[in-house]
Amino acid sequence: MDLIIRNANLPDGRSGIDIGIKNGKIVVLESSLSAKATEEIDASGKLVSPPFVDAHFHMDATLSLGLPRLNQSGTLLEGIALWGELKPHLTVEAIKERALRYCDLAVARGLLAIRSHVDICDPRLLAVDALLEVRKEVAPYLDLQLVAFPQDGFFRTPMASELLETALDRGVDVVGGIPHFERTMDEGKKSVEVLCRIAAERGLRVDMHCDESDDPLSRHIETLTAETVRHGLQGRVTGSHLTSMHSMDNYYVSKLLPLMAEAEMNVVSNPLINITLQGRHDTYPKRRGMTRVPEMMGIGLNVAFGHDCVMDPWYSLGSADMLEVANMGLHVAQMTGVEQMKSCFRAVTEIPASILGLEGYGLEKGCNADLVILQAADPVEALRLKANRLFVIRRGNIISSSQPVEAKLDLPSRPKIHNYLS
Ligand code: FE2
Repeated sequence: MDLIIRNANLPDGRSGIDIGIKNGKIVVLESSLSAKATEEIDASGKLVSPPFVDAHFHMDATLSLGLPRLNQSGTLLEGIALWGELKPHLTVEAIKERALRYCDLAVARGLLAIRSHVDICDPRLLAVDALLEVRKEVAPYLDLQLVAFPQDGFFRTPMASELLETALDRGVDVVGGIPHFERTMDEGKKSVEVLCRIAAERGLRVDMHCDESDDPLSRHIETLTAETVRHGLQGRVTGSHLTSMHSMDNYYVSKLLPLMAEAEMNVVSNPLINITLQGRHDTYPKRRGMTRVPEMMGIGLNVAFGHDCVMDPWYSLGSADMLEVANMGLHVAQMTGVEQMKSCFRAVTEIPASILGLEGYGLEKGCNADLVILQAADPVEALRLKANRLFVIRRGNIISSSQPVEAKLDLPSRPKIHNYLS
């Protein structure tokens, strides 16, 4: 063996497990493994998880906070306008530098796979070229999947069709869209139809920003389900955000959910962004705006939580911590039931891995030895503490490590060291 991790707790509840790794793969998982290895880590009852996966991000905009100015209103529309102001000043080098810096942050947080939308509404396609280079550079340690995203609208942007096809020709992986931002509901519907046809013809997956509004009558998810079934794309299409579903009439949702199940629709909710950007026109009570996560999980849909933004025109905060994302999602969706909390952990690990179609992901014999050892005993504790990542392992190699977090107290008659866990 190259590496053995001893006495691990696994997310599914197994405990006292030794994980044997050879040639970058998990070759054995059992208790009291007698084999020896070149290197051993004693997990001492801590949680060992497959890596975090972010199914929805914008790496072309990340870490650009303050360029060229801050979003004064904090709204989605000012964010889009601000990104438009920044675009003419972008360079390939600047986008790459920010993206690579973000990937470093991600690795330190055990986030080893990211699906990033990349804006194709720039005639120079600078962000596309930059992120294609980044995808190649980070491949040894992070899986980056790119979505061709017409940020300013597929029909609202001159040449968007040609730009999108060029981006796909250059190697962008997934077809994106933004139907609710087209000029009319009808043009939004047509954009879904055209973009799904392009994806079907090219054999690609689809991931659309869909119904990211508080409009209870926004219906693009309905069109997306219909086009998915029409093209035989079941299981390969993702509806991102779906915030309008928060505000939809319950009777209509009772019709929509089975249609989504029929299409095997994947869903990505972005709780940090949804809770800050939605409901902005409300006085009180204010809508939360996040889509119907537990209801969709309840009918068996793959529902992931995405980060969406970190320090960009739309969101000044964030830190590549998918436990922070899941923690917010859990609270906003009121998913405090025991099994629900475990589902929230899966929504930033195995579920987005499935949405991205990652191969070799998981904690079973034969899977890639991509692992995170957390300073927590189980998924719920990891969520509660947004636990420290003690070791991040990629293909059997330690690529990041941290000292355990603990506080040194100076109080009369109290222990001097206070473990962060208890
Ligand atoms: Fe987004």
